[in-house]
Amino acid sequence: MRTTVKELLKGEKKNQEVTLKGWVRTFRAKRFIAINDGSTINNIQCVVDFENTDESLLKRITTGAAIHVNGTLIESQGKGQSVEIEVTSLEILGDSNPDEYPIQPKKHSFEFLRENAHLRVRTNTFSAVMRLRSALSFAVHKYFTENGFYNFHAPIITGSDAEGAGEMFGVTNLDLNNIPKTEENNIDYKQDFFGKETNLTVSGQLEAETYAMALGKVYTFGPTFRAENSNTTRHLAEFWMIEPEVAFNDLNDNMDLAEDFIQEVLRYVLEHCKDDLAFLDARLTKEESAKPMAQRSDMALIEKLEFVTKNNFKRVSYTEAIDILRNCKPNKKKKFQYIIEEWGADLQSEHERYLVEKHFKCPVILFDYPANIKAFYMRMNDDGKTVRAMDVLFPQIGEIVGGSQREERLDVLKEKMKALDVDEKELWWYLDTRKFGTAVHSGFGLGFERLVLFATGMSNIRDVIPYPRTPQNAEF
Ligand code: 4AD
Ligand code: MG
Repeated sequence: MRTTVKELLKGEKKNQEVTLKGWVRTFRAKRFIAINDGSTINNIQCVVDFENTDESLLKRITTGAAIHVNGTLIESQGKGQSVEIEVTSLEILGDSNPDEYPIQPKKHSFEFLRENAHLRVRTNTFSAVMRLRSALSFAVHKYFTENGFYNFHAPIITGSDAEGAGEMFGVTNLDLNNIPKTEENNIDYKQDFFGKETNLTVSGQLEAETYAMALGKVYTFGPTFRAENSNTTRHLAEFWMIEPEVAFNDLNDNMDLAEDFIQEVLRYVLEHCKDDLAFLDARLTKEESAKPMAQRSDMALIEKLEFVTKNNFKRVSYTEAIDILRNCKPNKKKKFQYIIEEWGADLQSEHERYLVEKHFKCPVILFDYPANIKAFYMRMNDDGKTVRAMDVLFPQIGEIVGGSQREERLDVLKEKMKALDVDEKELWWYLDTRKFGTAVHSGFGLGFERLVLFATGMSNIRDVIPYPRTPQNAEF
């Protein structure tokens, strides 16, 4: 029976006959094969009796080849590993031509690896990132399940634009070379597949609200699409979002939930992904050491994750934040790209990062934003100009969570929709939640890739999702 490298490295099978299948990472001195099978970041060393092995077979042990070895697990004779396999027989399952295989045992640039995204997971860095991503995903489901939430599958195809930003990808099966038109020369969506205009979802929130008003606590965790033309290290056109929605929670409860949730999933990976984190920690430290002193992060990766799990997030109102920003050095010296002049300004990531990295030096939850820079569904405060919105801001990332207490009053909600030109008729079902048994409720959205960015210490969001979709790029 096949065992895994992870299993073997535990050392419990010492002096036993073992069978392993995996891929060759390196082969040196005609003797030592380092094999990896994805079960762990670590390779196992397999020692070949080269004097009694065919030269033609040895030639086929090349980086990337799939291999099957049988042998005895023994205490390692050399340094660097506790156990190794003394090979009794080996078979090449799939050759890998060294003249053509792009992933050689040397440092490749992330740009090069993005062009080879189908092979990059065979490197240490990407396999560590993707195992961590998987563990974080499990931790998310574990957290909500253990806290009485139901997983709710929001539709992917919808007729609504929850965020009102107009950044949707249309979904149609009309013949684009021969689009049917109405008498007014508009596209005749009645003839389209769904008989109406539809798009890929930008958020499952509106549907999640309807479910929270019956199941109490729900969360979605699914693909989300935004046709925003932002070519940054933090934006994807297709990303995964986690959106809890809770009946009877107000904004303070919502902040408590966001903080507890993020801390708990990070604690999970700190405990369960030690090898991968140690590797990524060392990688980041090396990368940072190449930077000028002033740009270096003052914490290593694991230290940073522990800091976040052990310290409360600082809660600050938008109004307080604007005061801090207006009077801060980079604003006065015009170092910001966008200068903060007055109350009401939308915050850019440079401002968010200043607050988190320079001013408070810890994660920050900003709340009570101006109504006119936020979505229609957020609850209006008594001042008539701010809404019960919250954004969680993280070092290096900026906004990681956006959420709010929802406007539960039907009349106020309708007014707001009118003012923001949101079609009441389209959202009749959403308004029903305010007509029948309305109640205070709140929720938020966490961009999963931004969480993975933080947890892995990677710097580009394209490197924490298997196949990134960004403007002008949908290869693979
Ligand atoms: O702040 P956003 O737009 O909020 C919503 O969509 C709400 N409906 C959430 C809710 O209250 N249920 O997005 C939420 C989070 C952001 O904080 C960010 O982490 C992530 O989603 N996000 C993106 N991540 C990657 N690429 C993009 N283009 C993203 N846009 C948003
Ligand atoms: Mg937001």
